[in-house]
Amino acid sequence: MSAQIIDGKAVSARVRAEVAERVRGLVARGVTPGLTVLLAGEDPASATYVRNKEKAALECGIRGATLRFPADVSAATLAAELDRLNADPEVDGILVQLPLPPGISAEDSRALQRRIAPEKDVDGFLPFNQGLLMIGEPGFVPCTPAGCMRLLAEAGVSPRGKHAVVVGRSNIVGKPMAMLLLAADATVTIAHSRTPDLAAVVRTADIVVAAVGRPGLVRGDWLKPGAVVLDVGINRLPDGKLGGDVAFAEAVSVASAITPVPGGVGPMTIACLLENVCRAAERRLPPA
Ligand code: GUN
Repeated sequence: MSAQIIDGKAVSARVRAEVAERVRGLVARGVTPGLTVLLAGEDPASATYVRNKEKAALECGIRGATLRFPADVSAATLAAELDRLNADPEVDGILVQLPLPPGISAEDSRALQRRIAPEKDVDGFLPFNQGLLMIGEPGFVPCTPAGCMRLLAEAGVSPRGKHAVVVGRSNIVGKPMAMLLLAADATVTIAHSRTPDLAAVVRTADIVVAAVGRPGLVRGDWLKPGAVVLDVGINRLPDGKLGGDVAFAEAVSVASAITPVPGGVGPMTIACLLENVCRAAERRLPPA
């Protein structure tokens, strides 16, 4: 048996087409959605991510802008910029690209992210929005886990009654992913690098979400036959290629459906970011 390959590129193209349609509707009612990204420093990976976000935004009619700052920018300068963007009615979504340069302390970095107005937090990283997710109320959901849920839906997989094992406990993927699966009526286990006998835990899963950043960690013989596997890992391998957290070549003959890397979860993150920007802008519409 070979698994269904869940095509994240195709699904993300569909999501972006849906967003473009919503944007056309908004523009017709006088609202052009706006996304502003703050990028500080010269980290090449961040520069690429941000370029891709801006390009994807523009392609679906969102006014995308990137504000670039030198690596030695002060936290105070970024804070003042965030205050200005929070007050700008044409800016619906604000994103501080992480990581911030080493000159900005971890504490300042946290404070800067928390300076974003909750209603413009299209990354869904603020404690307020994470809290809403925790209590099952509508708010902004972090984009990568939101993308994973959409991939499950598109693959025809309902989490209801399934056992989902999320490997990884980060605030931006593992924890919100677990909350989304729980809200969708899965029984959820969060496992991580310190979980004893991770293989045995993963073997109990109908749905596996791998998000630890360890290339090839989840082996084919860790999977229950027929499991659905979402691979969030994006790791640069010694040969220069990208690989996920799952040993794909092994897993593909055990799973019933699996996301590849690249071309699986990755493309969904930006698509879901654009969806969040659209939602943020819809709040500007006058009551029907
Ligand atoms: N750095 C890497 N990915 C992301 C992301 O999704 N949002 C932000 N703000 N920074 C990132």
